[in-house]
Amino acid sequence: MSNYHIKHLEEYFQVYRKSVRYPEVFWEEVAEEHFLWRKKWDKVLEWDFTKPEIKWFQGAKLNITENCLDKHLYVRGDKTAILFEPNNPNEEAQHITYKQLHEKVCKFANVLKSKGIQKGDRVIIYLPMIPELAVSVLACARIGAIHSVVFAGFSSTALSTRVNDCQAKMVITSDGSYRGAKTIDLKGIVDEGLEDCPTVENVLVAKRINTNIEMKSGRDYWLQPLLDEASAECNPEIMDAEDPLFILYTSGSTGRPKGMLHTTGGYMVYTAYTFKNVFQYKENDIYWCTADIGWITGHSYIVYGPLANGATTVMFEGVPSYPDYGRFWDIVEKHKITQFYTAPTAIRALAKENLDFVNKYELSSLRVLGTVGEPINEEAWHWYNDNIGDKKCPIVDTWWQTETGGILISPVPFSTPTKPTYATLPLPGIQPTLMDENGKEIKGNSVEGRLCIKFPWPSIARTIWGDHERYKNTYFSAFDNKYFTGDGALRDEVGYYRITGRVDDVIIVSGHNLGTAPIEDSINEHPAVAESAIVGFPHDVKGNALYGYVILKETGEVRDRDNLRKEINQLITDHIGPIAKLNKIQFVPGLPKTRSGKIMRRILRKIASKDTSNLGDTSTLLNPEVVELIMKEAL
Ligand code: WT7
Repeated sequence: MSNYHIKHLEEYFQVYRKSVRYPEVFWEEVAEEHFLWRKKWDKVLEWDFTKPEIKWFQGAKLNITENCLDKHLYVRGDKTAILFEPNNPNEEAQHITYKQLHEKVCKFANVLKSKGIQKGDRVIIYLPMIPELAVSVLACARIGAIHSVVFAGFSSTALSTRVNDCQAKMVITSDGSYRGAKTIDLKGIVDEGLEDCPTVENVLVAKRINTNIEMKSGRDYWLQPLLDEASAECNPEIMDAEDPLFILYTSGSTGRPKGMLHTTGGYMVYTAYTFKNVFQYKENDIYWCTADIGWITGHSYIVYGPLANGATTVMFEGVPSYPDYGRFWDIVEKHKITQFYTAPTAIRALAKENLDFVNKYELSSLRVLGTVGEPINEEAWHWYNDNIGDKKCPIVDTWWQTETGGILISPVPFSTPTKPTYATLPLPGIQPTLMDENGKEIKGNSVEGRLCIKFPWPSIARTIWGDHERYKNTYFSAFDNKYFTGDGALRDEVGYYRITGRVDDVIIVSGHNLGTAPIEDSINEHPAVAESAIVGFPHDVKGNALYGYVILKETGEVRDRDNLRKEINQLITDHIGPIAKLNKIQFVPGLPKTRSGKIMRRILRKIASKDTSNLGDTSTLLNPEVVELIMKEAL
């Protein structure tokens, strides 16, 4: 029996039991089976959730790019590592082999070095989904620089907040990006963002859309000429297992984004192991995850996990609706995709379109389908199962988070029987538990509670960059000696988990994790706004959409409401990005508050979702009369 690859249900249970009883033995065996270590560890695991401190494979030495690239050169050097499908279907796809990718990464790494980037330096990557994005990520890892990819849909303010938070020395971007029929001036956004970023010494610019852009002399460099001159040899920096690999920002319930820090050895082992098992990847498969590398899904399951397994991983530059709603299925047919991994919001959007967009294409190459990012509703699940998988492909509903680094709860295809809307069972090494409001563990089945994890796994984020206290408060303080996920979940009669959604102030919109506080902060910057509160409400494509309750300042001035709404959404777009725009904005005379001044979001959520039959007891509110007033004018 291999420790690395689960092949049937009995084996899953066997492996799972072992992983809980002897976690160190289990992970040590996995780590030994498939990876290149320059030196083995002295100790598999040391942990203390009260500090919190978690260390995996201490004393081990490695470079993750040796595992993702060098390791494959002799066995599969001419196999496609990255299959790049451009935005425009008429532009030719690129098949980048492991040999070619290795060379690109080495050259890029040498360019980074020539610009003074060293081990431990932070590099912000702000690129569209083009091969340079994956290459720059790996180039940083090659030399031990800490990459922080910022999703290229984020605004200049969001970019500069992140640059300053991690004190990045360099930004890597492109002249622009293609998005469906549109082009976006990325370099312009970078220039604006960097006005207040003193730590950035250089900006490297990849050419993608060939526009005339301004290059700041002494700071900005075109990438290609530097690559042309660079040597194709670059010895990997030998890293400690616990050396930082990357920072990835995620929203929290207060204003500042949290820079989740992931380290090298454990992250590699866990993402590789879960990729292999959750997607049941085989040597000649063509795997496609539609996420952007700007999110954790892209880090773990477009770049590191697949490449560590020698897989062919597809990178798609475009959007599902361009040139029409058949694009995903066109790509599945064209490249004979075997595993397809996407978000419920994309499935819902495509399910609304005519089935001809699906039926035109030959999808029989598909073997496993996946979803991630938010709960998938039953209807979308069946549409996916019936029309895309032809009822033959197991759907892996994968639950995890930026903080967890890899998938924690998911079916293992061809082993775990799937159940619509259920993420099902924990993967080996994962010990979930449900907690009640009083901090007690809920035992048994057919129960519901707050989802926590009792034991560390190798790819858990080790800290929040520059703010360990916040890391402790957010994840390890709600429940004693447990990692708190922020999600609610139920466990059914056979022990399957179903994630019911966030129980904190984070709202998932189209699979994007948005904190209410940063959005409210943006709105409150409007000179006419006194106070605001954001809640989510059900939306048939986005899963949740945002509903804003806004109190205006009493100036006596009459202002056009629709203009105000536009201005508020523009502020949000400038501060965070268009993904955080509000669907509805209601101007209200007040917000329901408890006597201690806390906004009662529960009531606002009910009003926003038009579910006002049972508002609960409002008499204990500071201002119960305001609830009636809000309900009367609800949108
Ligand atoms: C939150 C994490 C994991 C990569 C993408 C999102 C929600 C994620 C599922 C799922 C129900 C899910 C949770 C989680 N979520 N996957 N399969 N079923 N909910 O990463 O931005 O860090 O968001 O996404 O609420 O806490 P993220």
